Amino acid sequence: MTSEAIGPTPAATLRQRESEVHALEDITLDRRTPVDSPLLAEKAVVADAAEIHRLIQYWFEATGDVLPRTEGEIYETIRDFVVIRDPNGNRLLAAGALHVEWRDLAEIKSLVVDPGTQGKGLGRIVVDACLGEAVEMGLKTVFALTTTPAFFERLGFRISGVSAFPRKVWNECFRCPKYNACDEIAVTIDLRDRLNT
Ligand SMILES: CC(C)(COP(=O)(O)OP(=O)(O)OC[C@H]1O[C@@H](n2cnc3c(N)ncnc32)[C@H](O)[C@@H]1OP(=O)(O)O)[C@@H](O)C(=O)NCCC(=O)NCCS
Repeated sequence: MTSEAIGPTPAATLRQRESEVHALEDITLDRRTPVDSPLLAEKAVVADAAEIHRLIQYWFEATGDVLPRTEGEIYETIRDFVVIRDPNGNRLLAAGALHVEWRDLAEIKSLVVDPGTQGKGLGRIVVDACLGEAVEMGLKTVFALTTTPAFFERLGFRISGVSAFPRKVWNECFRCPKYNACDEIAVTIDLRDRLNT
């Protein structure tokens, strides 16, 4: 099969669309856009999987800040994902997943914002939606493994050690291609105060 037959790569498609994204600058977004703003975090549906994959693949190829996911893995975990959709089209502006690890512990995974809409509060909206869901589920702690801990610190997370999450290390890190040269930092947030209110 030729590359023409399979079309452009997700990254190429996304780069091509970056110019279109600037049209989104017409949308006035406060940096602290609240969750009930016109740009909402919504639960993903199966039709979102290809776009989620496109954004993850873009960032994996561009910076390596997220681990790659196959489309199959995204379908298998689609109920973990929340997304922010472009109100003027079918594209996704942001996505992220809350994955339950244990009775009191969940992880935020595959957090990605469209490169043309970074710095406009979308990452915060996705993380807030994941934390809201975690509270609804009665989870006490949420963590993330990230190369951008400063972003999570702005949202109330604290840096911790991955050794605080041995189940994660045993279940997933051992299979990760970055295992012997991991550049990710563990950040965690305690939700117990929110559970009590
Ligand atoms: C990291 C990422 C999710 C942030 O999303 P975003 O929509 O650009 O960030 P927001 O606009 O919601 O920023 C929220 C706050 O974090 C700060 N922030 C955002 N990115 C930051 C960074 N890389 N370093 C430090 N602070 C950052 C913002 O200044 C803002 O602070 P403020 O509210 O005090 O003004 C996004 O840039 C992205 O998708 N990056 C590539 C993939 C990636 O790194 N994913 C995370 C892997 S776990």
